[in-house]
Amino acid sequence: MRKIAIIGGTGIYGPEALSGFESRIVQTPYGPALCNIGEMSGNMVVFITRHGVGHKTPPHKVNYRANIWALKSLGIEEIFATTAVGSLNPEMKAGHFVVCDQVLDFTKSRINTFYDTPERGVAHVDFTYPYCPVLREKVINCLKNTDIVFHEHGTYVCTEGPRFETAAEIKMFAQLGGDLVGMTNIPESLLAREAEMCYTNCSIVTNMAAGISPTPLSHSEVVEEMQRSIVNMEKLISAFIAYDGLVHTECGCHSCMAEFGGFKL
Ligand code: HPA
Repeated sequence: MRKIAIIGGTGIYGPEALSGFESRIVQTPYGPALCNIGEMSGNMVVFITRHGVGHKTPPHKVNYRANIWALKSLGIEEIFATTAVGSLNPEMKAGHFVVCDQVLDFTKSRINTFYDTPERGVAHVDFTYPYCPVLREKVINCLKNTDIVFHEHGTYVCTEGPRFETAAEIKMFAQLGGDLVGMTNIPESLLAREAEMCYTNCSIVTNMAAGISPTPLSHSEVVEEMQRSIVNMEKLISAFIAYDGLVHTECGCHSCMAEFGGFKL
């Protein structure tokens, strides 16, 4: 039995298939996390809505540490996270899915580690490759069996938000090699790495980024574009949960804190 978490971003508030799941508030040292717990395709599945019920929590206020800690305490080993993104890359258009493989971190105010107390000590996690290669391969294999237009690589630029970017910022991110811009993958992916869980992301392009888009950006544009991709994302999530094929890579996610004595709850 795999132990899988889905972290649903903007527009992904829990596939229909989750009906019958138990809604449980998991207490953590960082506060409570609302988890929907159930079973699909013979696997344990926990679903978390990143922005909360009714999309009330902005990206910089998400309690990322509570979410990741709660998933770890429930025994989760694989995290599949969805995010809405703007695109800087003319090849990546609205409605396309991107299985990102790199990150540029432009966040400013977020607590981005579990290792910030004398008790836990100091740790510097390796983050050369921010996403688990095994989970990436699973997602890519699932996408190959669909008619969804997708990209196997992409560099995700994480901004602080909640405002959208300026045209000059987007120009700079593009020069630095960014393909997509969003507000949530940091510190989520980083905390999952510290907690020694496999984490991957599938981004959905909802708009061209500021200064590339011919019109001013709006949240409703993002939400409307997401609505069009929900059916595809739900298909992908179900396929990912049911996936039992082979992957050709190995990961060290579960032991990446060995140098620091391993991650302890
Ligand atoms: N910028 C930042 N975050 C986003 C965007 C964007 O253009 N679109 C969707 N999420």
